[in-house]
Amino acid sequence: MIRILEDARPAFVLDTEHTTYAFRVLPTGQLEQLYYGAKIPIDTLGDLIPLEEKHAFAPGCGIIYDAEHREYALDDCCLEFSGMGKGDLRESAAELVHPDGGRTSDFVYRSAEISDSKPDEAMPGAYSADGKAERLTVTLCDEYYSLRLELRYDVWADCDCICRSARLVNAGVESVEIERLLSMQLDLPVTYWSVTSFHGAWAREMDRETLSLPAGKFVNESRAGCSSNRANPFFLLHRPNTSESGGECFGFNLIYSGNHYSAVEISSSGKTRIVSGIHPAGFRWLLGAGEAFETPEAILTFSSSGFSGISSHMHRFVREHIVRGVWQKKPRPVLLNSWEASYFDITESGLVSLAKAGRDLGIELFVMDDGWFGQRDDDTSSLGDWDVNRKKLPNGLDGLCRKIEALGLKFGIWVEPEMVNVRSRLYAAHPDWAMAIPGKLHSEGRNQRVLDLANPAVQDFLIEKMTEVFSSANISYVKWDFNRNFSDVFSPSLPAERQGETGHRYYLGLYRVMRTLTERFPEILFEGCASGGNRFDLGILCYFPQIWASDNTDAISRIRIQEGYSYGYPLSTIGAHVSACPNHQTLRSTPLDTRFNIAAFGLLGYELDLRELSTDERREIRGQIALYKSWRETFQFGDIYRSRTHGNLHEWTVVSPDKKRAVGMIVQELVRANTQFERYRPGGLLPETRYHFYNVAQRLNIKRFGSLVNTVAPFHVRQDSLVHNVLAKAVTMPGEREDLTAYGATLMRAGVKLRPAFAGTGYAEGVRYFQDFSSRLYFMEAVED
Ligand code: DGJ
Repeated sequence: MIRILEDARPAFVLDTEHTTYAFRVLPTGQLEQLYYGAKIPIDTLGDLIPLEEKHAFAPGCGIIYDAEHREYALDDCCLEFSGMGKGDLRESAAELVHPDGGRTSDFVYRSAEISDSKPDEAMPGAYSADGKAERLTVTLCDEYYSLRLELRYDVWADCDCICRSARLVNAGVESVEIERLLSMQLDLPVTYWSVTSFHGAWAREMDRETLSLPAGKFVNESRAGCSSNRANPFFLLHRPNTSESGGECFGFNLIYSGNHYSAVEISSSGKTRIVSGIHPAGFRWLLGAGEAFETPEAILTFSSSGFSGISSHMHRFVREHIVRGVWQKKPRPVLLNSWEASYFDITESGLVSLAKAGRDLGIELFVMDDGWFGQRDDDTSSLGDWDVNRKKLPNGLDGLCRKIEALGLKFGIWVEPEMVNVRSRLYAAHPDWAMAIPGKLHSEGRNQRVLDLANPAVQDFLIEKMTEVFSSANISYVKWDFNRNFSDVFSPSLPAERQGETGHRYYLGLYRVMRTLTERFPEILFEGCASGGNRFDLGILCYFPQIWASDNTDAISRIRIQEGYSYGYPLSTIGAHVSACPNHQTLRSTPLDTRFNIAAFGLLGYELDLRELSTDERREIRGQIALYKSWRETFQFGDIYRSRTHGNLHEWTVVSPDKKRAVGMIVQELVRANTQFERYRPGGLLPETRYHFYNVAQRLNIKRFGSLVNTVAPFHVRQDSLVHNVLAKAVTMPGEREDLTAYGATLMRAGVKLRPAFAGTGYAEGVRYFQDFSSRLYFMEAVED
């Protein structure tokens, strides 16, 4: 709920279910941030007295704002939005070059209104199915330059999130240059914060890093041309002792897919400023007379229940207000992707036989990845030529699709529309459609160039070409890839003075293309991808309900990657596949059950040659898919609780929205000798409900015990001999079984002490075989009284 407390200096109070956000006009006209945190009662202006900072004399070295307010130096105030040049020396949210060349901006309060939030046409933004979100718009003015700045606050009370954005209107008669216009600024009165952010590289996305910030500045940024795998725009600010289940924590994210910039700065007086928005580096926007510029939306949330509180706010927000359309709440199919099975080497018959192998195991959707168009035999050519390669697919997309559908599967394809290879017919016809600086050497990534999506003609081409491709067969799914960072940023379609607009105009263009295509093909399930997670952000998720999280399919690497995503993004957005061993990115071998267990905490798919598996492996995969299907709603739309995230053992639980079903997992990286005793402790259950807690006991191949077989065999068995292999076919060892009922309170507070792990002193039924890379799933179902 939003309230304006009327006064000569009005105040604004934004309440969500569990938080309060308050600010007020200062005597100098700027907006003072008063409070953001756990809910507090504010009924009258009098309730603000404890929250307002008291001023008597400006501090030494301070710039006095004006003669009437000698006690105010802006550098020492908690402000909602700061321009440059009036004495606030911290990160500014706006940096403008005025017609007179001056760079000083001073925005002071003019008016405020409450309305319904209006989704922006050009930019992705939070939405609500029932159209219900309140918006507070506070208008500030810089009178010297006839500039109006609208600060918008959309309150998503149900998930304790606030979306902030800014709109700058040039009401003057000359152009203004915007060098920086960020989406939000938040000043907190205290210090002692830690920042947790998510960094990485290709195949190593979302590595969680925490640092404490006693002074100075922390920057979380991408200059890659996309939101990037180097620094995801989602980050946390928290107390040093905040844990998964307790402590104060703020979460921030941006609904944007291009270069982003967030900074956390500790001021000289110990206040903390957080800013976030489009990266100012390389950005410059010419705002003509009468024009307006809108920033993307920044999301803010607060929880006093630690990281899991933030995750639950963010997950609900993404599920309810970011992802939309037919697939928003629809269970996602279990897919088989051709990439790691065949790479570019595809033929119609090969794909059909792969799909058939998948169908036999329970796969629901078959996806043909790269290699099906133009002369695409490797990554050096054909991006841009979206016509079927008839040598590989003589019956076209439609012919292949019909054969796949005849098997009872849905059919999906891969595209990378935003790119072009110089070796393509598209480039030969339109060299000026690629980003490149005329007359200069262009640096390429993966042998390809980025199309100039700032150019409306390029957008139109992509819309029409993709419409043709998507209508040429009964396509149920599209993987939309993006495989290089930007370099030599230049739009041949823009004049010199607007080159600084290229990056942002690219994304406005991309969003137009995505919006048009998803409206034209509402039934298609789109999955975003950018060499894995190089563009995993809320901008993409406004159009595509899911994203391929990483090109790294190694289960052990995926623990950290998927755990990282889970802090800010729900499992219904995270693509995760079971692949071959040794793994293609790490050459590591991991047990098939662990590969499945990790991938099940996401949108399950398979990406390996199922035709080449042993009978046992196929049987195991058939069981995995059946199990996943019976728990699919929980895995895909449940809430995740991370009980252990550090060290050798990770412990997650996903709980269904009604809390009646839950699946837990423990996974170990490396075995430590003589560590038999382990406890599994879920989160998120109903304390007073009884749950049936159980696992699915395995049958273990005796070869897993190596030559220890001789401790029980009546004759000597040479390891890996014919006899050993024959024995292994006939005899399996029972895995341990867990089966009990307990109250949710007991499970969550005390945990379940698990069967002892093998510790080198004996193995029998009831011992947990738990070696390197082992894992277990535990199922919990509410017991009706
Ligand atoms: C990068 C993607 O992340 C992979 O999954 C695959 O689709 C390749 N591109 C295809 O070129």
